[in-house]
Amino acid sequence: MTDTGSRLPHAPGPGCPAHAGAVRLGGLEYQQTPAQLYRTLRQEHGAVAPVLLDGDIPAWLVLGYAEVAYVTGHDELFARDSRRWNQWENIPADWPLLPFVGYQPSVLFTEGEEHRRRAGVITEALEGVDQFQLSRDCRQLADRLIASFAGSGRAELMSMYAHALPMRAAVQMCGMPHTGEATVQLVEDLRISLDAAEGDDPVAAYTRVGERIRQLVEEKRERRPDVTSRMLLHPAGLTDEEVVQDLISVIAAAQQPTANWICNTLRLLLTDERFAVSVSGGRLSVGEALNEVLWLDTPTQNFIGRWAVRDTQLGGRLIRAGDCLVLGLAAANTDPQIWPDSFAGAESSAHLSFSSGEHRCPYPAPLLADVIARTAVETLLERLPDLVLAVEPEQLTWRPSVWMRGLHSLPVEFTPVVR
Ligand code: HEM
Repeated sequence: MTDTGSRLPHAPGPGCPAHAGAVRLGGLEYQQTPAQLYRTLRQEHGAVAPVLLDGDIPAWLVLGYAEVAYVTGHDELFARDSRRWNQWENIPADWPLLPFVGYQPSVLFTEGEEHRRRAGVITEALEGVDQFQLSRDCRQLADRLIASFAGSGRAELMSMYAHALPMRAAVQMCGMPHTGEATVQLVEDLRISLDAAEGDDPVAAYTRVGERIRQLVEEKRERRPDVTSRMLLHPAGLTDEEVVQDLISVIAAAQQPTANWICNTLRLLLTDERFAVSVSGGRLSVGEALNEVLWLDTPTQNFIGRWAVRDTQLGGRLIRAGDCLVLGLAAANTDPQIWPDSFAGAESSAHLSFSSGEHRCPYPAPLLADVIARTAVETLLERLPDLVLAVEPEQLTWRPSVWMRGLHSLPVEFTPVVR
């Protein structure tokens, strides 16, 4: 990892001396290799950098591995309830980060005993997901999505695959009913069977009714308790509104990071020669690519965040009560303190991509995300074995987001599959 030596976009501090010379987070060139960017930031500011969020709102970006581990491990000092932020009077009603920072009564913003209660329910509900069944479900979903573009020989994988698959997997995992079309058809078929009008075929309709009801009975017999039911039945006794809030957190948390994990892994497999020779013949495996992405191109680059409970010190900085800290997860993963020479392709899973401490991504979720992402990538490569990029690797562009690392688009080509 070499240092670009590039200067970062500084801004005058917003009145607070600690933020004089702070870096505008939104102004950073996130298309760069993030590790280089974070190294420059670390050289200029140390492990905890003063930054300005949208609208020049001051915050701290925690860049060091040890410092992120410390912040996430000390809830009594750095807590999740954003209502303690000392900047609320400066936040406009249409502030773009409000959806992530504005307090909601969900697991995300609860603390202490209440957080243990809510997170415990989610953990147990996710623990009940049968990983083999999830893998089978994901393979089916993947096959269906691939079939929708396999005949054309071209696809844009971000929209047609990487985003679509985890969303459907998460919704299915939570037991959401399928669309009502089948039910509407059943009602119409019943009418025809019982009271046929001219031109109707009551025998065919009756046969369809039989098929549908048989399917229903099979579905009911097979019905596996889902995440939603387990949350509702949990002895912690969450109210319906608490379950609604936490299910939204689960589905939202599952979708974006998993989609970008799939996309960033596909990009690595399709562009890095260590994985090359049409991907299936490459030297390194899909599992290694998935893990390398979590170290070097992790989906959740920066996570907002924690709020200081009282005045304290971190990385040589004075942090005031109510200050906002952004967890620099990507920066922490590439901290030269843990990679003194260069990144040698870590096999371990000691990265901070799922964060750490009380509020980390709840224990079974990374495993489930792994099943979803691995199945998505493997199924695609099995079904379309000569898959290649449809553009030069340099033409792939990263979305300029400070928070999520993912591509604008991932266009590919392959031999059309004729059915
Ligand atoms: C099935 C997929 C997933 C589910 C169901 C899920 C669920 C969740 C939930 C419920 C939380 C809130 C935890 C709390 O505040 O107590 C969370 C937090 C988080 N998740 Fe996940 N997640 C999934 C996939 C991922 C992936 C793929 C990544 C990144 C590679 C990720 C990274 C994170 C991070 C960084 C946090 C914030 C932790 C913190 O505040 O310290 N998650 N996740």
